[in-house]
Amino acid sequence: MNKILDSQSVLEVLRPVQDPELRKSLVELNMIRNVQINDGGNVSFTLVLTTPACPLREFIVEDCQKAVKTLPGVTNVAVEVTAETPQQKSVPDRTGVPGVKNILAVSSGKGGVGKSTVAVNIAVALAQTGAKVGLLDADIYGPNDPTMLGLSDAQLVVHSSPNGEILEPAFNHGVKLVSMAFLIDKDQPVIWRGPMLNGIIRKFLYQVDWGELDYLIVDMPPGTGDAQLTLTQAVPMAGAVIVTTPQTVSLLDSRKGLRMFQQLNVPVLGIVENMSYFIPPDMPEKQYDIFGSGGGAKTAEELGVPLLGTIPLEISTRIGGDNGVPIVVADPDSASAKALRAIALNLAGKVSVAALV
Ligand SMILES: Nc1ncnc2c1ncn2[C@@H]1O[C@H](COP(=O)(O)OP(=O)(O)OP(=O)(O)O)[C@@H](O)[C@H]1O
Ligand SMILES: [Mg+2]
Repeated sequence: MNKILDSQSVLEVLRPVQDPELRKSLVELNMIRNVQINDGGNVSFTLVLTTPACPLREFIVEDCQKAVKTLPGVTNVAVEVTAETPQQKSVPDRTGVPGVKNILAVSSGKGGVGKSTVAVNIAVALAQTGAKVGLLDADIYGPNDPTMLGLSDAQLVVHSSPNGEILEPAFNHGVKLVSMAFLIDKDQPVIWRGPMLNGIIRKFLYQVDWGELDYLIVDMPPGTGDAQLTLTQAVPMAGAVIVTTPQTVSLLDSRKGLRMFQQLNVPVLGIVENMSYFIPPDMPEKQYDIFGSGGGAKTAEELGVPLLGTIPLEISTRIGGDNGVPIVVADPDSASAKALRAIALNLAGKVSVAALV
C-alpha cells in the first residue's frame, strides 16, 4: 500500500510503539504530539515522557525513529523530548499538598543505614534531570539533611498569610528543603520535640510554599514510629522506598518497615541496598563485602518488591554528606553516584507506572 506521508500516517505507524514500562501505546497515552512534516520528508514531533527522569528515554526515542523511518518518503526524524510527570492517585480521606504531584517516603527499620544519604542524592539526581524536587526532612530528632545539602546555615523565611504562617523552603543543588533544624535551637532538648511531631509534620506539608513539585521526597526517621504514622495518615503517599544494608538484622528490620507500609496502604516501590560492598579509594578495582552480600536482592525477592539498586560504601560519599556537596554533584562518575542516579531514574519510572496504571 502506498501511504501518503502526513501526520495521520506518522501517528498510525507510531501506534504499535509502546512505553516499555507502562506497556501501552505511546499514541494512546498521548505521548506523541505536534507531528509535523516538512519539505523533503523531514518528520518532527514531540515525545512527552511521564517523567524528566525517564530511565528509558533513549530507548523510546530510538523505537519511535525506527518506526517512522519505515514510512516511504521519510528522510529524517527529529524527536523533541519533554516530560509531564503524572499526578499520583488520590487516596480517600487523605489531603494532598496542592501543586505536589508525588510524595515519596525514604524509610528504614534500622538507623544509620543511609536513608538521608539516599534521600538527598535521589532528590538531587532527580533535579539534575530537570524535575522539580522538594525534600522534607521528617527526622525531628536528628535532622541531617541541611548539612548534607549544604544548607546548615540557611534560615527559613516566614510569611504571614490569611491561613497562618507560610514557610519558604531553603534551596540548594536544585532541591527545596525544609527541616526541623531550621526551626529550633540546636541545643533545644529532644524531649520538647516529641509532642510537637504531629504539628510540625503537618506544618511541613501544608504550610510550606512548595510551589509546583514533581516529587516531594520525605526523609524519615529510623523505625516504624510516630513520624511514619503521622505522615502516612495525613497525606496520600505515591510510595515508599526502603533502605537497607546487606546484614541480616538490617534486613529483618526492613521487613517490619515493609509490613507497616503495606498495612497503611502505601505501596512499597522498592528496596535500596546501601553499603553493599566497600571500594577502597587506593584500589578502586577491588570490592570487599563488609556486611555480607546479596541480602537486598534476597529480601526483595522474598517480599515480592523490586530491588531498585545497590550502592557501594565509598569514603567520598560520606565526605560529600559531611561537606554538603552530595556525591552525585561532587563526583558524578564515582560508582556510588552512578548507582544513586540509576536508582533515582528507576524510582521515577515506577512512580509514573503507579500513577498511570
Ligand atoms: N554508601 C555510603 N558510603 C559511605 N558512607 C555512607 C554511605 N551511606 C551512608 N554513609 C554515611 O553513613 C552515615 C549514616 O548515613 P545516613 O545519615 O545517611 O543514615 P540514616 O539512615 O539517615 O541515619 P539515621 O537513622 O540516623 O537518620 C553518614 O555519615 C553517611 O555519610
Ligand atoms: Mg537520617
